[in-house]
Amino acid sequence: MLLFIIILLVFCYWQNEDLVVTKVDYGNQKIDQTFDGFKILQVSDLQNRDFGNQQQRLIDAVKKSQPDIIVITGDLLDSRAENIDAAMGFARAAVDIAPTYFITGNHEAASDQYQLLKNQLTEIGVIIVDNQQVFIEQGDARISLVGVADPLFATVEQLAQEGDYYQQTLDNLLSQGDGSFNIVLAHRPEDFALYVNCGVDLVFCGHAHGGQIRIPLIGGVYAPGQGFWPKYTSGFYCEGNTTMVVSRGLGNSLFPIRIFNRPQLLLLTLRSEDSEG
Ligand SMILES: [Fe+2]
Repeated sequence: MLLFIIILLVFCYWQNEDLVVTKVDYGNQKIDQTFDGFKILQVSDLQNRDFGNQQQRLIDAVKKSQPDIIVITGDLLDSRAENIDAAMGFARAAVDIAPTYFITGNHEAASDQYQLLKNQLTEIGVIIVDNQQVFIEQGDARISLVGVADPLFATVEQLAQEGDYYQQTLDNLLSQGDGSFNIVLAHRPEDFALYVNCGVDLVFCGHAHGGQIRIPLIGGVYAPGQGFWPKYTSGFYCEGNTTMVVSRGLGNSLFPIRIFNRPQLLLLTLRSEDSEG
C-alpha cells in the first residue's frame, strides 16, 4: 500500500511539474512562402504559476524553441493570486526572446491586479492586442494578427447592444484586414462556432486546461465554460476554413491537480502549402 501511495505521489508530481513542448505544423495556401517555417510559441494559462528559480525552467524551454513570436492567450494572472511576480518574471524574459503578444482571459477580468499587470506589460514592451489588429511583416508579405479581449471585459452597455457583441467585435477587427492570412488570439475554445462564423483562418485558444484530468483515448473530464466531458480541450479542431488550436496551458486554478495532462507549451510552425499537421 505504501509503495502504491509513493508511486502515485511521484506520478502526480511528474504530471504537474514536467513541462512539455508540443510541436505542430499548420499549412494554409493563404500563407506566403516568406512565412514558411515561421514559428509561433503559444503560452497559455500560466495563472501566475512559478516554475521555480524565477521561471528558469519555463524560460529555458521557450528559448530552446527559438520562436519568431510568442503569443500569450490569457490567464497569465490568477484572480486569487496576491501578486503578479511570477507572471511578470516570465513576461520579462519572453520579450527578450521574441516579440510577445498578449490577450486577456477571464482571470485578468476578475483580478484587481490586472491594471498593474497591464501597465507593467506595456512598460516592458509586451504588445497587448485586446480588441486590436496588428500586422506581422516579412518582406512584402504580411499576416494579420487579431486579439480579442475576454468577453467578461464587455460592459453592460456593450452587451445591451443589438446583436452578439463578441461576434461584432471580431467581425469588425477582421474586416479591417486586407484579406491576408489571419491569426486570432482568443482565450475561450467554447466559442469555436463564432470563430468559424467570423471567417477566422487560425485561432489560438487556452482556458480549458486540457480538461484538467485526461482519460486516455477519451479526453478531458472538465473544462470551464464547457462543463463535464468538454469538446475542445487540446490540439486541432477544424471546420470550414477555420482551424482552432487549443493549448492545455501551464497552470491550474481552483482544481490543483493535472493527470495525464502535463503543463504544455505549444510550438506551431506555419507552412505555406495546404497540409495541416
Ligand atoms: Fe481561463
